[in-house]
Amino acid sequence: MEFVEYPDVEAMMIGLAGVLASQLRQHLSTQDTVSFAVPGGTTPGPIFDSLCAVDIDWDRVHVMLTDERWVPEDSARSNTRLLRQRLLVGRAAQAKYVPLYSDHATPEDGLPGLAAQLETHLPVSVMLLGMGADMHTASIFPGADRLHDALHGDDVLVPMRAPGAPEPRVTLSAGVLAGAMERHIVIIGTEKREALERARTLTPDEAPVAAILKGTKVHWAES
Ligand code: 6PG
Repeated sequence: MEFVEYPDVEAMMIGLAGVLASQLRQHLSTQDTVSFAVPGGTTPGPIFDSLCAVDIDWDRVHVMLTDERWVPEDSARSNTRLLRQRLLVGRAAQAKYVPLYSDHATPEDGLPGLAAQLETHLPVSVMLLGMGADMHTASIFPGADRLHDALHGDDVLVPMRAPGAPEPRVTLSAGVLAGAMERHIVIIGTEKREALERARTLTPDEAPVAAILKGTKVHWAES
């Protein structure tokens, strides 16, 4: 793991957007298409605001989420909605979107079709992840019903219900996260920094983010 500290959040968001753009450009120079996985939640919006204006060959980029909440796209909780509003706009509107949500009642109903499509875009070329203060990443939560499958199973996409998540989720498995060619985590604040330090001393079953720290660059600003 490499830890990068920034003077403030704004500098981090701009700097990290630049890092992601240059890695996408680099992969686009050697591959016909590249896959780019990003988190939802409250942290990455400003990164998307910068990235969407970057001049790269977006029509050869397949964008996907690291995890999705099983809610319709018009819900304020939908990560897809966040992407459509802040990443898949401007120049990045040319990117292809690989969905993690379908209009089925439960993740289990929608999953086979979504997983089959996702598999054609693996391994992920460039991945950005978030992390919670409870040490979850993507939607691999401590104490979740399918934690073991997400950490140790072969499925690329896993449905997940957890005490820390208000709605059912689907998440890329730890195997898919760890298989990404470039991997970054973005976190803000002292609580998350301390959680990250704690995770480094724990097992993935206790602290799911620990499963993917090796080879990952963690970007942090206090505020
Ligand atoms: C989600 C995310 C999740 C997120 C962390 C951090 O759907 O919530 O994809 O993995 O990255 O929970 O969330 P915040 O950025 O809101 O703190």
